[in-house]
Amino acid sequence: MKLADNFLSNTKGLDYEFIDAGEGRKLERFGKYILDRPEIEAKGGKAFKDIWEKADHYFWEEKGKKGDWKSNGNAASTWEIEYSAKGEDLYFKLELSKFKHVGLFPEQVANWQFISKKFDVLSGGRFLNLFAYTSAASIVAAKHGAEVVNVEALKQLSNWSRENAERNGIDNIRWLVEDARAYVNRAVRRAEKFNGIILDPPAFGHGSKGKRWIIERDLELLLESVFKLLDDDRSFLIINTYSPKMPKSELVALMKRFGNKMTEKEHHILGLESKSEKQLELGNLLRYSNF
Ligand SMILES: C[S@@+](CC[C@H](N)C(=O)[O-])C[C@H]1O[C@@H](n2cnc3c(N)ncnc32)[C@H](O)[C@@H]1O
Repeated sequence: MKLADNFLSNTKGLDYEFIDAGEGRKLERFGKYILDRPEIEAKGGKAFKDIWEKADHYFWEEKGKKGDWKSNGNAASTWEIEYSAKGEDLYFKLELSKFKHVGLFPEQVANWQFISKKFDVLSGGRFLNLFAYTSAASIVAAKHGAEVVNVEALKQLSNWSRENAERNGIDNIRWLVEDARAYVNRAVRRAEKFNGIILDPPAFGHGSKGKRWIIERDLELLLESVFKLLDDDRSFLIINTYSPKMPKSELVALMKRFGNKMTEKEHHILGLESKSEKQLELGNLLRYSNF
């Protein structure tokens, strides 16, 4: 049963399955391993009790304490996942890392497909990935011919991203370990232009020099500048937020204000859907484009 008309779930091509969610946890298969981890949006009960016992990796956390992973048998803490679209294969490194993440947000495949299609139309062009994490969107764009600028504040993630790029034979990415705001301000001063921009800002974060990022305080100014970087003829902007501190109505209002010249506008609730049609709503996704 659909929860919302604009619910979007698409993990096609990724060797991944969203199996079940409930009681504050989600169960997923990433390549060869099944993971059981906390998920604040997993409301209601679990559909299949027995399958949860098959998890290879389990993330536990006690209130007020840092959590950790528990693994079964010989399950490795680092492995690889394949993404296969239209006959081309990409590989990404996964790793059990603190804060229950593993290096990929599978629901983002929906954006990888959007980016691929756009750069196939453009055959060339420039792409900017702000708040890039392990840079999967950058690698997908580069694979489809884009010249990419990748901005992420955390240095540790830069090595992980470069490993992902090397593994896929990608060398047309400029890696910047920097505060997204600092980069965007500089790029506006230089009158740089991009054909595609993705930003997935967290609720709270730090720039590379420790400057705090607070979504409800900082997004408006950033978004205003980001729109100045879009190519007038052919460009698109994808924004994704997982934080309840940025309600969809506010996000839509900001995008409408700054993006009024864009001709195509999509508003979605981004999530995951299991084979048994259980839907997990994870965040808001807006995509604006003029081609
Ligand atoms: C939600 S993750 C993005 C995930 C990404 N969309 C993906 O699918 O892989 C947010 C990222 O923003 C980074 N970050 C936080 N504050 C930042 C800032 N001020 N400038 C640049 N990156 C920042 C974090 O280190 C984190 O890697």
